[in-house]
Amino acid sequence: MPTSTLGKNIDLIRVGQAEYDDFCALLEWRRTGVENGDTARYMAEETQNFFTAYSVLDSDTFFIFAAKVDGRFVGYATAVIIPKPDPRRGILYVDELWVAEPYRLGGIATLLMRETLTLARKLDLWRVRLYVGMDNLAGRNYYRKMGFAEKGDAVWCEYELPEGQ
Ligand SMILES: CC(C)(COP(=O)(O)OP(=O)(O)OC[C@H]1O[C@@H](n2cnc3c(N)ncnc32)[C@H](O)[C@@H]1OP(=O)(O)O)[C@@H](O)C(=O)NCCC(=O)NCCS
Repeated sequence: MPTSTLGKNIDLIRVGQAEYDDFCALLEWRRTGVENGDTARYMAEETQNFFTAYSVLDSDTFFIFAAKVDGRFVGYATAVIIPKPDPRRGILYVDELWVAEPYRLGGIATLLMRETLTLARKLDLWRVRLYVGMDNLAGRNYYRKMGFAEKGDAVWCEYELPEGQ
């Protein structure tokens, strides 16, 4: 449903196959910092096969919410259900949240997160969880404003898989 923030028409959309061609332009904008870049890499056969195999664009457990301003994608959030094998059922993990710079501080991330929190409530999950860098003061401020509590100190650990294995 269209919502108005700072006088703009904002549409919130769950991105599926039909929207992906337009949506991947936003991902490329984030990746390169340049608008209207070449999106051929998103259409590569291996990538599309992965999307099909894991229902990335048509899933009961993975969600892409995106905001359009005047018909153009300008921000998005991704979230995935991580089940718990006990009565807590599971958490909704927010993996990515990004709003293009010219559209920041206009309430777009707030709309995206409200949609995400509504989903978690609807699914009757235990909690919504995410990580944010200690030095990302805008992000931390934003999450606090959205009602998230910072729980202790943690270190983010990743194991990098060699490419092409
Ligand atoms: C963090 C981010 C998603 C916020 O998006 P946004 O659309 O500008 O956020 P909103 O307009 O909904 O802001 C809501 C609140 O967040 C806080 N906030 C947002 N940007 C802020 C900033 N630069 N400095 C301080 N507080 C900020 C404010 O409390 C704001 O409320 P207010 O406008 O009443 O003061 C955006 O800055 C972004 O994409 N950053 C880069 C990616 C990132 O850091 N993602 C989150 C961590 S994974």
